[in-house]
Amino acid sequence: MQKLWKARWNVFRLRSVDIFIDLLTDSGTGTMSIYQWAALITGDEAYAGARSWYNFKEAVKDVLGLEHVLPVHQGRAAERILYTTLMKRRNARIVPANTHFDTGRAVILNNGGEPVNLPSPNTRDRTSHHPFKGDIDLDRLEDLMEKHGDDVAFILMVITNNTVGGQPVSIDNLKAVRKIADRYGVPLVMDICRFAENAYLIKERDPRYRDKSIREIVREIISLGDHFVMSAKKDGLANIGGFIATRDPDLYEELAARVVLEEGYITYGGLAGRDLEAIAQGLREVVDEDYLKHRIMQVRYLGELLVENGVPVVEPIGGHAVYVDAAEALPHIPRDQYPADALAAFLYLESGIRGVGLGALAFARKVDGEIVFPEFEYLRLAIPRRTYTNTQLEYVAKSLAQLVSQAEKKVVGLKIVREPRINGIRHFLAELEPVKR
Ligand code: F0G
Repeated sequence: MQKLWKARWNVFRLRSVDIFIDLLTDSGTGTMSIYQWAALITGDEAYAGARSWYNFKEAVKDVLGLEHVLPVHQGRAAERILYTTLMKRRNARIVPANTHFDTGRAVILNNGGEPVNLPSPNTRDRTSHHPFKGDIDLDRLEDLMEKHGDDVAFILMVITNNTVGGQPVSIDNLKAVRKIADRYGVPLVMDICRFAENAYLIKERDPRYRDKSIREIVREIISLGDHFVMSAKKDGLANIGGFIATRDPDLYEELAARVVLEEGYITYGGLAGRDLEAIAQGLREVVDEDYLKHRIMQVRYLGELLVENGVPVVEPIGGHAVYVDAAEALPHIPRDQYPADALAAFLYLESGIRGVGLGALAFARKVDGEIVFPEFEYLRLAIPRRTYTNTQLEYVAKSLAQLVSQAEKKVVGLKIVREPRINGIRHFLAELEPVKR
């Protein structure tokens, strides 16, 4: 309890040494393979034109088929540089997406833009086993393009869809979005942080892809986009890093200049040569089907244990995390008392487990003086790659199920005491307090 008070009831502010099982994020927290560690040692730290840069560039081309690539220090730098440039180029504000995740959304908001979430209608039913709940709502996208196409900077597809449950996006949906983008002459940007997990879930859930290799499916996904942002802390299997890629040589020139100014020279982008080596190796490992099977099955194992124990989770279980519907689990806590973050705080208090709230604290907005709540109020339990054992996850399932069964007695809402001064990042920094009963 003392540690939680010290952390101002915000689990981001805890010390990792005070945590038993850390499911805050799958970002940069995985275990690197022996081959990645070996690659680190070969890092060439030349400022420009290092061997490690050429290895990295070759791996991006080999796995993703993309030639014009710029390394950056992590995903949000890619988002900031690409999104800002595209918004200026088209002099447009609106960015529709299958659902924005926090940092990309914050970049758009802080550029005076309007991120618009168009999640698939299938997401509304938490337990429906629709195979591709990560898709964008094509009808609403078409409608938005028709009405406001001139003010749309680009269409964004987040793959997998992190905000709605780590759910995969289907090839059919991507093809349909491609057509809409072409019809209205707007670029299609893909956030491909978890491209390999998405490809695995396509192979599993779309019978037409059962006999295709993960690499083939990845290439097909990528073939449908114009520009790409990547956080290598996810499916790059690295602790740090990211990149921007584009098919447009002219845009590449513009982005390259910004990378030099804001990140580092274009052959390292704020990373050490050894980081580029770890990412190059990670990209080649992540498309290994056996690795992906183990990864996805482990996340599913935790999810299914929670379902069996009566915890309301988003189904089917997604790629990198299990999402608990906190509004449903804590009906006694109103949305303006941040149920997802309250559940995160009390889960830590009861069992030393750290998850993260993805709900009103992160995504609520004031529009014309009125608070607009986000569609979902989830506690996310993200599984770091190649890190925990299933026995540890059994402890997580048991602890959370127990807490949820006694929620009314044990969990109270939270209120904000202090918040950061810029839009869209409140959950990272807010200072909170439990509401008195
Ligand atoms: N896009 C998506 C879909 C993400 O999930 C993240 C990070 C980013 C971009 C930004 O990348 O952290 O390298 O700057 N997501 C992490 C998470 C932090 O916990 O889901 P970054």
